[in-house]
Amino acid sequence: MMAGVKFLIPFFLAAATLGAAAATPGFAPFEDSMAQRALACTACHGREGRAGPDGFYPRLAGKPAGYLYNQLLNFRDGRRHYGLMTALLDPLSDAYLQEMAQYFAGLDLPYPPPAASKASPAQLQRGQQIAQHGDPARKIPACVQCHGQALTGVQPNTPGLLGLPRDYLNAQLGAWTTGQRRAHAPDCMAVIARQLAPEDLSAVSAWLAAQPLPDDSKPAARLAQPPQIACGSAVLPAGRQP
Ligand code: HEC
Ligand code: HEC
Repeated sequence: MMAGVKFLIPFFLAAATLGAAAATPGFAPFEDSMAQRALACTACHGREGRAGPDGFYPRLAGKPAGYLYNQLLNFRDGRRHYGLMTALLDPLSDAYLQEMAQYFAGLDLPYPPPAASKASPAQLQRGQQIAQHGDPARKIPACVQCHGQALTGVQPNTPGLLGLPRDYLNAQLGAWTTGQRRAHAPDCMAVIARQLAPEDLSAVSAWLAAQPLPDDSKPAARLAQPPQIACGSAVLPAGRQP
């Protein structure tokens, strides 16, 4: 009950903000800027999209614009599921979502230091091994192959893997294994997540969540080499439907 109330309050604030912006073309009673509209989102996603306090509401600030836009389409069109957000996005046009994605992608804000890790040294070592080198025997590719050598993501469509809480990483990889989260076909992350044994999945999440961001936390401009696994969302022009 308490949890329900906690989630609903930001939703009503958000719906009211977007509604006000949408209902007043031309005669806005307040400044109808992107920063103003984004208040509908930051009610959950934290000030300027820096992430909510508890690892549940992910950061938006500084992620690649194409990645953010693809996720907005994914929530709106049923490839990802969070009812309260989908309800907000439902009436919004592709052009509006594209603008929101660009707004959040353009915010250059510092990251907080990583939370102290509860994982064992052996687990962290295994996680690092997978992230940087993969495990060819188990057909697990290195995460750096697509997420960039620094793991800060690659423009325009591949997100960074640092600065995300362990719970969020576990939840997203878990959702891919069960089909709850999907991306543009061919969905490389579904293949990779299913290839990870449960202990490897939690090891790589634990290691990623324990890493500080490098000084240059921005997504890389491009990949050094094309990935070995076909990846629809990585190669599509930002936001093209599958
Ligand atoms: C009621 C709370 C709530 C509101 C309001 C909300 N979101 Fe979200 N959003 C979430 C949650 C929770 C998730 C993560 C869901 C999951 O686990 O997949 C999410 C995920 C996202 C993601 C995917 C992030 C990633 O790294 O994959 C994007 C992009 C996003 N939201 C953008 C927005 C935008 C833009 C708005 C405003 C129009 C908005 N959200 C409003 C709760 C909210
Ligand atoms: C072949 C390329 C490729 C490889 C290799 C790869 N990824 Fe990904 N990953 C992607 C793409 C593209 C996306 C964005 C998918 C989308 O649009 O939803 C993604 C998204 C993710 C996300 C979601 C991030 C968020 O903010 O919600 C996680 C978590 C993730 N990958 C973890 C991993 C891990 C862990 C590995 C290594 C074991 C890995 N990835 C290897 C291409 C790859």
